[in-house]
Amino acid sequence: MSTDINQLRSEALEAVNASPDLESLKETERSFLGKNGRITDLLKKVKGLTLEEKKSFGKAVNTLKHELKQSIISKKKNLEQLQVETQLEKDWIDLSAPGKRRQSGHIHPLAQVQKEVESIFQQMGFSIIDGPEIESEFYNFEALNIAPHHPARDMQDTFFIDKAADEKEGRLVLRTHTSPNQVRTMLKWGAPLRVIIPGRVFRNEALDASHEHTFDQVEGLLIDKNISIAHMKGIMQEFLAGLFRKEMKVRFRPGYFPFVEPGIELDMSCVFCDGKGCSTCKKSGWIEFMGSGMVHPNVLKAGGVNPEEYQGWAFGFGLTRLTMMRYGINDIRHLTCGDLRINKQF
Ligand code: PHE
Repeated sequence: MSTDINQLRSEALEAVNASPDLESLKETERSFLGKNGRITDLLKKVKGLTLEEKKSFGKAVNTLKHELKQSIISKKKNLEQLQVETQLEKDWIDLSAPGKRRQSGHIHPLAQVQKEVESIFQQMGFSIIDGPEIESEFYNFEALNIAPHHPARDMQDTFFIDKAADEKEGRLVLRTHTSPNQVRTMLKWGAPLRVIIPGRVFRNEALDASHEHTFDQVEGLLIDKNISIAHMKGIMQEFLAGLFRKEMKVRFRPGYFPFVEPGIELDMSCVFCDGKGCSTCKKSGWIEFMGSGMVHPNVLKAGGVNPEEYQGWAFGFGLTRLTMMRYGINDIRHLTCGDLRINKQF
């Protein structure tokens, strides 16, 4: 009998010890201590024993039971602890490891300068307006006092689209300047007006370091009563000083654009030499900045504004050129070539 018990004891303890997880420990417990477990079975043998034998056998079995239970409890604790540790190990992260650097994007230099331009004009009460890049011949030329066979249409080599807007508006074109929005804005909002219209324009140019088929302009339009070109001079001086953060001078030269009368070319003092004369301004101290002038009465009429009551001025400058000057970019093609090595510098 006692050899049976000893045999069972070592088997049972061995089995508990060898249980790899809680599930199999439970199974081991069941196979020894369960209803039909091997220790329970052992007790069934008690029948044929003498009273004396029964006593000592019973005691031995109970001791075994107790011992086995204790060993199961402590094994269970071990296995539970192990489970927690494995989970922790799985969940472990190295807080000291260097993070993955996020690639941050760059705002395109053109967009940066555009934002600045907009903000300065906004401070002077101008609204920012947008207009279509695909225009009709009517808005791009006719409404701007450029008659169908006027040579000024050749001044701006136009990309025509093989489709008509409608009978009145003529063919569709890629706008050659932002000026068509002068009339669009007057028709939409009426007078008085104070707007700038930044946007892309397109010309069929022979490409070189200073000519692109696609570039950006900023149109300006101010319509009100008792307006003279002196107001434009003040606004432009203020704008350029805000942009270049120093005092800037402007000067007027006569210029021809069919949609203004008188037409004016506005030069600004050279930002690089402050008017002293350098290679950029070809020793003149001045840089050509924009076309402008008093809005032609025909254009006011096309915009539904009465020239007897209102007058105003308009201008158009190259945002692309301004950006190149601002950042010292010497080839216009850099701006649209899509090479990130260029964008990343700004
Ligand atoms: N639209 C003209 C150009 O592209 C510039 C301009 C705008 C001139 C407004 C006068 C008035 O050259």
